[in-house]
Amino acid sequence: MSLIRDTEKYLTKTINDLGYKIEYVKLEKSKLPEYGQYQINVAMQFARSYGKNPRDIANEIASSLDSRFTNVNIQGPGFINVTFANEVLIESLNKAIDNFSEFVDESENKKTIVLDYGGANIAKTLHVGHLRCNIGEAMRRLIKVFGDTSIGDVHWGDFGTPIGLVIREIKEMYPDLPYFDETFTGEYPKESPVTNEELGIIYPKASQRKKEDATYAAEALQFTEQFQKGIPGIKALWRHIVNTSKPDCEEVYNFLNCHFDVSYGESDAKEYVEPVIKFLNDKGLTEMSDGVLIMPIANADDNKEMPPLLLKKSDGSILYDTTDLATIMQRMRDFNPDAIWYFVDERQSLHFEQTFRGCRISGLVPDTTDLKFYGFGTINGLDGKPFKTRDGGVMSLKELIKMVYERIEPKIKDDITGEERKEVAKKLTVATLKYADLLPYRKTDYIFDIDKFTSFEGKTGIYAVYTATRMNSIINKLSNGNELLKEIDNPDVLDILVKLTELPKNLKNAYQEVTTSYIAEFIFDLSSLYNRFYTNNNIQSETNTNLKETYIALTRLTYNVLKNLLDILAIEVVDKM
Ligand code: ARG
Repeated sequence: MSLIRDTEKYLTKTINDLGYKIEYVKLEKSKLPEYGQYQINVAMQFARSYGKNPRDIANEIASSLDSRFTNVNIQGPGFINVTFANEVLIESLNKAIDNFSEFVDESENKKTIVLDYGGANIAKTLHVGHLRCNIGEAMRRLIKVFGDTSIGDVHWGDFGTPIGLVIREIKEMYPDLPYFDETFTGEYPKESPVTNEELGIIYPKASQRKKEDATYAAEALQFTEQFQKGIPGIKALWRHIVNTSKPDCEEVYNFLNCHFDVSYGESDAKEYVEPVIKFLNDKGLTEMSDGVLIMPIANADDNKEMPPLLLKKSDGSILYDTTDLATIMQRMRDFNPDAIWYFVDERQSLHFEQTFRGCRISGLVPDTTDLKFYGFGTINGLDGKPFKTRDGGVMSLKELIKMVYERIEPKIKDDITGEERKEVAKKLTVATLKYADLLPYRKTDYIFDIDKFTSFEGKTGIYAVYTATRMNSIINKLSNGNELLKEIDNPDVLDILVKLTELPKNLKNAYQEVTTSYIAEFIFDLSSLYNRFYTNNNIQSETNTNLKETYIALTRLTYNVLKNLLDILAIEVVDKM
């Protein structure tokens, strides 16, 4: 529905024809809705450049506008207020009833964007912060809505020190396993020596011991170096750990409707490690410092410390910087993307600044490929500090999900039972978690207020899903699937239609600013407007056939929009709840 865009083009032409030069005239949402739906605010700027009275200019423009507008009036120094004629709104929105793409101004030059989100570390339990993979998933979907290509990659943390630590601890538990016997020539066991539950205990223990015992820490590092190098026994054990831990993380991502187009890990960039180091060496950009191969990236005019990129230690082991550079080389070769977007904890911003700088200095990434770090804030508890369990431990993502599920489940109607009840509870849990996570501005920390987030009132996932369910049941009961908007008889109907004219700009802002809040806020506003309409108008018993048809068409239109917007956030609607 290009109503606003088409109108802006029309205004640009009309105003240029009057002799006022302007590249593009924007229609602004009215700040004084009692005077009109939208405003045209160009008269003041012309007054300066043409030395005329702004109200005279506003009058001149106002009197040349055609009948698509009604009630054109001028306020203040020269704000032109306009209201769309009802027929214009009706015509334009009827086209969108079954067609969400009417609200999307598709990108002209198609882009390919790689998204890096999720980033679970193998052998460690997912914690609350991993909930924020939602942002990457929502952006992956939004990019597709605009007709661009998005490639989501989870980028497993599967090649670093946590696994070395776990191996060190397993050695303590089962010293006789063949993985640790360098002379072993037989076949390694098919079964992993540890379960995922055991990993949940082993990692925290190992990480604690590392802090207390320098020898232990050094041995763990040696194991890291060994699986990176591919020493058979340690590599076989490494693979068991990866294969044990990954399905558990995948299960949580699946539960949250977070999907990935490719599922690579740090270890998959292994073949690019030597090539990328050679690439930097050949350009003369590396040097040795204290036994570590580094790439200095600091500039004389930096206003903060810019540590060098760390590429390789004397024992041959590689680091986080190395795997990220190698992965970038891989992504450039595999996808040649127009952009790579990283959705990672804000606290990693320096790492990405360094990495990107290394890419630019060396030319690993050409200027035509954008590198962006979209950091996200922390999820805090009610005390404003990072979310913890009751006994002060790290809150796992599974625990958080369980907590929300237990609050949501009793709110479902009693006549929904068995498997269906579980399915509904699951979807509403996901809706609750996602909406709460996608509503605030990405970068800000937010407080996980479970009472607030699981309420049927206010800006919550279940409020939106509940509204969609209500609409859906009206459609099932009353619609023949072909109703059209016929007339606008009251402000409840009008306000919904005007709100919908704002949607294309909202979607565009969400895409350009990489901020899901626009969509989450819109979902709330639209739901509230619909619920007001529903309370004030009786659809079923309306006797005027034109009005009844309009109300049903309005319900179909609003439902379709709401469902599509929720889908961008990866929230599913339910039939009943
Ligand atoms: N595994 C990392 C961590 O938990 C996050 C990975 C982010 N992505 C990346 N390409 N570095 O800290």
